Amino acid sequence: MLVMTIESSCDETSVALIEDGKRILANAVASQIPIHRRYGGVVPELASRNHIRDIHQVLNEALDTAGLTLQDVEGIGVTAGPGLVGSLLVGIETARALAFALDKPCVGLNHLEGHLTAVLLEGDRVQNPTFPYLGLIVSGGHTDLYVVRGLGDYELLGRTRDDAAGEAFDKVAKMLGQPYPGGVAIDRLASTGNPKALDFPRPMWTRKNLDFSFSGLKTAVAQHLDAHGIPEGQALSDLCASFQEAIVDVLLMKALTACKAHNLTRLVLSGGVACNSRLRTRAAQDCNAQNVELFVAPPTLCTDNAAMLGPIAEHYLRQEGSTHFVGHAIRAQSN
Ligand code: KG4
Ligand code: ZN
Repeated sequence: MLVMTIESSCDETSVALIEDGKRILANAVASQIPIHRRYGGVVPELASRNHIRDIHQVLNEALDTAGLTLQDVEGIGVTAGPGLVGSLLVGIETARALAFALDKPCVGLNHLEGHLTAVLLEGDRVQNPTFPYLGLIVSGGHTDLYVVRGLGDYELLGRTRDDAAGEAFDKVAKMLGQPYPGGVAIDRLASTGNPKALDFPRPMWTRKNLDFSFSGLKTAVAQHLDAHGIPEGQALSDLCASFQEAIVDVLLMKALTACKAHNLTRLVLSGGVACNSRLRTRAAQDCNAQNVELFVAPPTLCTDNAAMLGPIAEHYLRQEGSTHFVGHAIRAQSN
């Protein structure tokens, strides 16, 4: 099946063309990062307006790249939630209008399911995991652990009780005067820092559950800055590396504990924070030490993009077999 997927839940406008739920023929993405950077974060009103401005251009770019026309599209999948309402509406109404005009089926999809299953897409460097696997979503809005037993079959094991991992990166970067998105800036600065320079707390380390909490860590950094001021040079790199290490430690400890508790031998990292170079390196080391196979999609499929919706779009389109729009914002028990 040739499926068009559309993603506009936050500040990326993206349209992809996917064959058989796994082959990426095109994955066009227009990022609004430069627009939101001057405000230090995503401004919802601006995000919606820029999706409206960009969506047709991105759609044409995807078709051009794939060498296809709208008439080739056999079904449409679009992010229906979670996300910013005004942003979501642009993608949803574009998808519904296309589906109506082309008389093709259209399904609404859960953004988190997209992140969780992006690793099932074909790609040069991606070896696909088999089910079941443990999925850790680490993005700007979520830090969730799921058992993924199949497409559409998930069990939530734990999630953050306050800030998401990406949110913690973004907020700490802001305190340090670094540009949005903060995770990228901290990753870069940390690459020359000493992760043992400062001893930041590892929140929820001793708790038996699989939940996360990052607001205390953020406060610990704020208190350090109050006492010592914003560091520069090597001291700034050391602080970033130490903060990043605390997040990576907690994420991997909880994920590998979950693997053991649920007899899972495959771990999938997804979401924007899965681009983090230290998380990728440490995950490879820690998984190797515990005989867990690690799967991480390439960075372009970890941050928000429409191609990641390919596997679930195909799955639900085949299941529904309907020409009507069906929303699935709650598929992964999250909204
Ligand atoms: O998945 P995503 O693109 O959007 C959401 O669904 O939230 O994730 C965005 C988040 C931002 O918080 C950003 O700072 C973080 O991913 N991020 C990173 C890195 N690249 C993006 N965090 C740490 N290290 C990175 N290299
Ligand atoms: Zn996302």
